Amino acid sequence: METKFRDTSAVYMKADLLVIPVREKKFDEPVIRALDQRLKGQLRQRIQRSRFSGAEGSQLQLSTAGMLPAAQLMLIGLGSEAEISSDTWRKIAARARKEAAALGAEEMAFLFAPGKDQDAMAGVVVEGVLLASYQFTKYRSNSKAPAELKTLTLFAPGLRRTPALQRSVDLGETVAPAVYLARDLINEPPSITTARFLGQQAERFCRGRGLSVEVWGKKRIEAMKLAGLLAVNRGSHEEPRFIKIHYKPAHKAKKKIALIGKGITFDSGGLSLKPAKSMETMKLDMAGGAAVIASMSSLPKLGLDVEVIGYVPTTDNLPGHNAQKPGDVIRYLNGKTVEVLNTDAEGRLILADALALAAQQKPDYMINLATLTGACMVALGPQVAGLFSNQQALAENLIRCGRESGEQLWQLPLVKEYREMIKSSVADMKNIGGAHGGAITAALILQEFVGDTPWAHLDIAGPAFAESDSALCPKGGTGFGVRTLIKFLATL
Ligand code: BES
Ligand code: MN
Ligand code: ZN
Repeated sequence: METKFRDTSAVYMKADLLVIPVREKKFDEPVIRALDQRLKGQLRQRIQRSRFSGAEGSQLQLSTAGMLPAAQLMLIGLGSEAEISSDTWRKIAARARKEAAALGAEEMAFLFAPGKDQDAMAGVVVEGVLLASYQFTKYRSNSKAPAELKTLTLFAPGLRRTPALQRSVDLGETVAPAVYLARDLINEPPSITTARFLGQQAERFCRGRGLSVEVWGKKRIEAMKLAGLLAVNRGSHEEPRFIKIHYKPAHKAKKKIALIGKGITFDSGGLSLKPAKSMETMKLDMAGGAAVIASMSSLPKLGLDVEVIGYVPTTDNLPGHNAQKPGDVIRYLNGKTVEVLNTDAEGRLILADALALAAQQKPDYMINLATLTGACMVALGPQVAGLFSNQQALAENLIRCGRESGEQLWQLPLVKEYREMIKSSVADMKNIGGAHGGAITAALILQEFVGDTPWAHLDIAGPAFAESDSALCPKGGTGFGVRTLIKFLATL
């Protein structure tokens, strides 16, 4: 898709689909009047007869029957001025893209007059249009590719293509393919996405200036004493992998960041087997790893001055004949020991290795993403990720980046008193807490491995996978985290 800018008004725009965002009950705008005049009063009539109110997401569409250079016209509601956020623009852009697909439109013109944050919103609109185009159809025998959107023209009287506007659009065009990559990796069936496959994909996509990838096999993992990854892998036929991706900028880096992603390619629970229903979506359990691989794949294009090291420990969690058993004890490379009482609490076991290893490099910040607990989903539902951090400034920065990217993060507390709940009778800690507060006890276990490095943990169990279609994403892997991570790295 090509993005263009035009300094013109709606009545002159030639396109297959002309999209006019409208604020709630604001039908008196000059653009509506001008269009209505050309359409000989039909637009007003349609607005009056329909229930179109300009409420967020409401739509009205009509054919222009040759009275305008554009073939089809679509009004789309922004909602009330006070509630319009960047996410509103992202979503209406996505809805417009869906309408274009339904009409087979190849050229879409979008009236772009956000009023404030104009530069940032241009990138957001482009991102929304691109994200809405995502489909995962490789396993369908009868899928027809939807009409490709060839051009998106952002237009408004007086619109100027400034360098800041262009940078913002470039960012949208860089972020979207990274989100696509994360979604693809998650959606791929779990017998395809093995640890080996994930390593190969990291090698394939993390290329370009400044990026290098190492994929450690079982021997190297043993030599590095990644005991948690080896313990979880024992029940599997597949070898584990430990993926390490390094981005070194051309100029001296201002900051060093470690990103760690949970890469469980399928979570059966191990010997503490999950019920069948809970397993249906457990290919999603490498979504944290996918977000790390995908966001790092975009770093050469972004050319940022930060050093970033990505770590993805990966294996499936299966109850094979040699599987780890409840009661087993793992001794970690930093000397700590963990009693495994539930083999389904495996994410923390493999993240512990990676966090301890990453902390040795003394990064400025360490951020991990993991589909860690059902408890976090119970607390925050399917759209919001839990955020835990030992540094408030880092937490707040991530929350802001999330808000600006359309990914909601909500901070949960690292309750010191709950450390009691992870005390073990034989080891330094056990891998499960009590009946309640499961997202917190999981985070407390991770915290044992970060030392005093400023660290944040995103529990993305809810938002990693969509249970139904939405404008921005079809049912399946969402790529949650990629947009926030890229924004975070770009604003350091
Ligand atoms: N991968 C799951 C968490 C999960 C659940 C992610 C639902 C997405 C949707 C994790 O490994 C797990 O099984 N956690 C257990 C922990 C428990 C045994 C302490 C859970 O949440 O039930
Ligand atoms: Mn599990
Ligand atoms: Zn898991």
